[in-house]
Amino acid sequence: MDMKKARLTSILLACAILTGCGGKVPEADGSNSVAETTTSPVMTVAIGTAEPLTTSTSAAEEETEPVTTVPPDDMTRVHEISLSFSTAEVKVGNKTMPIVTMSPETAVNKDEIWKSSDEKIATVDNIGNITGVSEGECTVTVTSADNPGVSAEVKVTVKAQEGLTYFDGILVANKSYPLPADYNPGGLLPETQAAFDKLVAGAANDGINIYLSSGFRSYEYQSEIYGNYCDIYGQETADTFSARPGYSEHQTGMAIDVNIIDDSFAGTPEAEWIEKHCNEYGFILRYPPGKQEITGYKYESWHIRYVGEEFAKKLADKAAEVGDPYYTVEEYFGIDSVYKE
Ligand code: DAL
Ligand code: ZN
Repeated sequence: MDMKKARLTSILLACAILTGCGGKVPEADGSNSVAETTTSPVMTVAIGTAEPLTTSTSAAEEETEPVTTVPPDDMTRVHEISLSFSTAEVKVGNKTMPIVTMSPETAVNKDEIWKSSDEKIATVDNIGNITGVSEGECTVTVTSADNPGVSAEVKVTVKAQEGLTYFDGILVANKSYPLPADYNPGGLLPETQAAFDKLVAGAANDGINIYLSSGFRSYEYQSEIYGNYCDIYGQETADTFSARPGYSEHQTGMAIDVNIIDDSFAGTPEAEWIEKHCNEYGFILRYPPGKQEITGYKYESWHIRYVGEEFAKKLADKAAEVGDPYYTVEEYFGIDSVYKE
């Protein structure tokens, strides 16, 4: 065996031993069981120190360039990552962030690469903010950009957020079912963002330009918007088109206002495309015409809500069944949308 093959074999062996994952990398969809991986918050790499083994050589090995090895005595490179905690419990919409220590202190490049094993359960941004998305468990991993063989992980358990109201798994936010003031997913939920990206691409394919004008709005931001409308139009009128803080679907991270946020959008080719096709991407036109008494809001041709393709289809089928162009969330679940006071 030549040295190139010996080095490669030792690297693979070291990876298998140290990650405990048999050389597999967890899939984005979490299909590689995370339960098989170690829960140790600290992992070190010994790439370059394992003894070369003699193995049969595949064509893939012949073509693979050797991975850069990191000698254990190279104090300019990352050899170890430790986290301030290795398990975390977070509520849907809330965040947590472990403190990361990369060793040795003298390592030049301490850049972090973060990844969640299941973004439907929890997302993580590029500095390690972990956000609960829905109930369940997943693993969040931080890897050294300098030395990708070194990583550490947090087992994340996401619990339901008290005060959120679900009907058949659909989160409802309307005048009857508010959200906690501190419910803040920090942006559009990943599933919503991904579905919207597909919708935009689908529209572009049809020569239609759809863009996001307003997505996630925090309790505080909605408070500002609603307050401004109350100042201008008075509360009674504002309540017909703007949600009070804590009552807006925008705070869920699952609602999007597209293109022009006023009545001039209705009837445009873009609005017609949205009305006809948004269901195919798991969105619904949340405040359709003629349903103000039911949804609590005037017609909004620009406001779509992500509910998933299955539920979007259920609503469309129900609308067809009852011979109504629109069937709302409130009608489907037999609920109202009325402020208590
Ligand atoms: N315009 C909708 C109702 C909102 O303010 O959430
Ligand atoms: Zn809206």
